[in-house]
Amino acid sequence: MSVLESRTAHSDLTPDRSDKFSFGLWTVGWTGSDPFGAATRPRLDVVEAVERLSELGAYGLTFHDDDLFAFGSSDLERRREIGRLTAALKSTGMVVPMVTTNLFTHPVFKDGGFTSNDRGVRRFALRKVLRNIDLAAELGAQTFVLWGGREGSEYDSAKDVCAALARYREALDLLGEYVIDQGLALRFAIEPKPNEPRGDILLPTVGHALAFIETLAHPDLVGVNPETGHEQMAGLNFLHGISQAMDHGKLFHIDLNGQRGIKFDQDLVFGHGDLINAFSLVDLLEHGGGDGAPGYDGPRHFDYKPSRTEDSAGVWASAAASMRMYLLLKQRAAAFRADPEVSDALAAARVDELRLPTLDSGESYRELLADRSAFEDFDTESYFGAKGFGFVRLNQLAIEHLLGAR
Ligand code: GCO
Ligand code: MN
Ligand code: MN
Repeated sequence: MSVLESRTAHSDLTPDRSDKFSFGLWTVGWTGSDPFGAATRPRLDVVEAVERLSELGAYGLTFHDDDLFAFGSSDLERRREIGRLTAALKSTGMVVPMVTTNLFTHPVFKDGGFTSNDRGVRRFALRKVLRNIDLAAELGAQTFVLWGGREGSEYDSAKDVCAALARYREALDLLGEYVIDQGLALRFAIEPKPNEPRGDILLPTVGHALAFIETLAHPDLVGVNPETGHEQMAGLNFLHGISQAMDHGKLFHIDLNGQRGIKFDQDLVFGHGDLINAFSLVDLLEHGGGDGAPGYDGPRHFDYKPSRTEDSAGVWASAAASMRMYLLLKQRAAAFRADPEVSDALAAARVDELRLPTLDSGESYRELLADRSAFEDFDTESYFGAKGFGFVRLNQLAIEHLLGAR
């Protein structure tokens, strides 16, 4: 087998359950309606979603309560849809790794759920979430995502942000207490987003969410669900956000998609936006856990929108493309890591040296102050016109692997 044949070997690019690919029901189910235009596709039934995704090699389906049964459904209607989902899961072997609550579509949430200025709305939102936590537990989900799309403001004087954060905290503390009291094996993941639909959303970036989590009564129960496009909408490097979440042990879930620069939330197929950053992300997820081990073992969850230009066939093609993009990038990242020239360039760039503590073991500022070689005798001039790091060479190798040129 030639190098090219082995690189594109069928099995590596055929998704299977062990890849842990999951999709939101609202992703493949998006009918294409946006603020400017009506739907371009018919509604997708949950049973068809489970069956199609299963055939394509996904392992999981995720959903908001309102994706499965319309807001305000009777108990009977609600149970009927849950029953249809459960039967489809059983017949396909698909699972529900994550559940989330819609606190943004209905007019009652026009000023948010947990942080609405209207106290009655806040209490209603909590009840809606508690009810959905019971369902998540019933379906065996491990993660409960909290995306506060309507938690925010357009007008500075209309929202007391400190009070809103206190109410957000009150809500999460209550949810944590509930999960503990019920003995549920469920963890929460806050999904940051800078804006859209609100002018400014609370907890806009991974960093904001991580800082907030430390103020909670049960911080161990709460992590983050970063989304590629959301960090990139803020002009931030998704890889950096993910790395910091990992450093905090808080990468509980991830939303993969594509975004091209600072604009509205595009929700493109993963890799169809900033491809180089997507390559580095897959490399981090697959090899960033130290000694080349995976840095993340949770679901590879796609939160994208099949463009409204696509018909139903295009929906499934885009779902397949999402998984294929991940597997292609995984293959390229493995080739990058296995290339001796890359090892050489990594060594020349002293990437590993950053893992060495700056101080010797047992050394304190006293020894550092006494070390003349660290300062008085340190040859700073030798850095002029010399001692380059060769980062460009390393990046060129990464891009050549990404292009399949090596
Ligand atoms: C968005 C968000 C949502 C959330 C979902 C899960 O920008 O619309 O990404 O799709 O991920 O609501 O809670
Ligand atoms: Mn989004
Ligand atoms: Mn998302």
